[in-house]
Amino acid sequence: MAKFVTIRDVNDDKVALGHLELGGWVKTHRQSKRVSFIELTDGTAVAGLQLVIDPTLAGYAENVSKVQTGASIRVSGELIVSPGKGQKYEFQVKSFDLVGEADPEQFPLQKKAHSLEFLREVLHLRPRTSTMGAVLRVRSAAAFAVHRFFQERGFFYLNTPIISTSDCEGAGEMFHVSTLDPENPPRVNGKIDYSQDFFKEPASLTVSGQLEGEVCAMGISKIYTFGPTFRAENSNTTRHLAEFWMIEPEMAFYELEDNMELAQDFVQGVIKEVLSTCSKEIEFLASQEWVQPGHIDNLQAVCESKFTRLDYTDAITILEKSGKSFEYPVSWGIDLQSEHERFLTDEHVKGPVTVVNYPKDIKAFYMRLNEDGKTVRAMDVLVPRLGEIIGGSQREERYDVLLAKIRAMGLDEAAYWWYLELRKFGTVPHAGFGLGFERLLMYMTGMQNIRDVMPFPRFPGFAKF
Ligand code: 4AD
Ligand code: MG
Repeated sequence: MAKFVTIRDVNDDKVALGHLELGGWVKTHRQSKRVSFIELTDGTAVAGLQLVIDPTLAGYAENVSKVQTGASIRVSGELIVSPGKGQKYEFQVKSFDLVGEADPEQFPLQKKAHSLEFLREVLHLRPRTSTMGAVLRVRSAAAFAVHRFFQERGFFYLNTPIISTSDCEGAGEMFHVSTLDPENPPRVNGKIDYSQDFFKEPASLTVSGQLEGEVCAMGISKIYTFGPTFRAENSNTTRHLAEFWMIEPEMAFYELEDNMELAQDFVQGVIKEVLSTCSKEIEFLASQEWVQPGHIDNLQAVCESKFTRLDYTDAITILEKSGKSFEYPVSWGIDLQSEHERFLTDEHVKGPVTVVNYPKDIKAFYMRLNEDGKTVRAMDVLVPRLGEIIGGSQREERYDVLLAKIRAMGLDEAAYWWYLELRKFGTVPHAGFGLGFERLLMYMTGMQNIRDVMPFPRFPGFAKF
């Protein structure tokens, strides 16, 4: 059998001219009496390959003439430099195998472009579209870039548990994991008796690997996680998923300043690598009608300049003086809403912004208290169009301060005994952050809805396949 190659390799000039075997799906088929042209894709590249078929080919009537958009085929023949305009190479078919037909009366995808909403209803066929194909290839390249970034800087990759018995963010937005009979759970004094459950205590899908990440950073200095994260928040927005992937580095002896620098280098590093390894995908996506002109130039500019830093208190002053009438009124102490974040990134700075030192009452218990007693060493990285893509902080490393905070926030201090012990024995200043992988993908691809950068999105009322 001839060597099986990908169309990506052909387009990238990695394949020698001459005899080859190829497999894929038909994008378009134009037939005439003298010649048949098929545009073939195998989903590995933006551009397909033009197949040229002579109607005298053996089996033409039974095979080639039946082929329509969506059919799968296998061909062998000759790769040549195309004499025609519009493509570098073309493929002269010498043998043709119709592997799977796609009846145009039934096949939901046709030559014409489909709306992204419609494509969410046919998730099982969505990867066959040019848009989803490009998004999936960017997703893969970005994941590789994430690992490279950290591995090159001496971070160790860590898998934190997916099933967890602690609520990192303390927000109670968790999916429960239980093997008890939901129709008839065992009870004591009216309450569910978790001692009879699988883990003998309430367990959930993790909302963040941070706390376990801190445990390991306190042993091996610099770690990062990259794993699935679950939030049972009833947010039906274009930026929220119930299941998303988060990258969480955690570093011993890092303070807020170091954390901010790492976050900026990280975002810039991944964007740069993707712009180079997926240039064709990014160009294709940037040309879609829903993407703002200048998308790629903007991304390049983001890689070259320092992210603007703003103290939360200054951000509030800027918002108050903006003259804008926001839906949520602005005053010191509020959590920034997406309209506020977007004013700061899209109108005030016109680029990414790192907001630091938020009021302690709107942030999680583990963030380090500042000397003013009112704010914590939190940092959120906000980007134009999307708002928050990173949330992080310097962690509270002082035992007494952390214990007081846990108590003041009404959390169950017994549940955090191990987290407190990290501060009792050999505590060190440390910091970390979490980047929402899908938010970064939205930023890079220009996709407007987070449901379109995840192959199988989960959100309220939807968990297909
Ligand atoms: O700001 P968050 O909640 O921070 C944490 O979970 C910290 N424990 C991270 C850390 O310091 N190690 O979430 C971090 C990021 C957000 O900035 C956002 O990009 C993403 O995770 N994110 C979501 N992405 C998609 N859907 C959701 N429902 C998300 N919730 C958070
Ligand atoms: Mg956050």
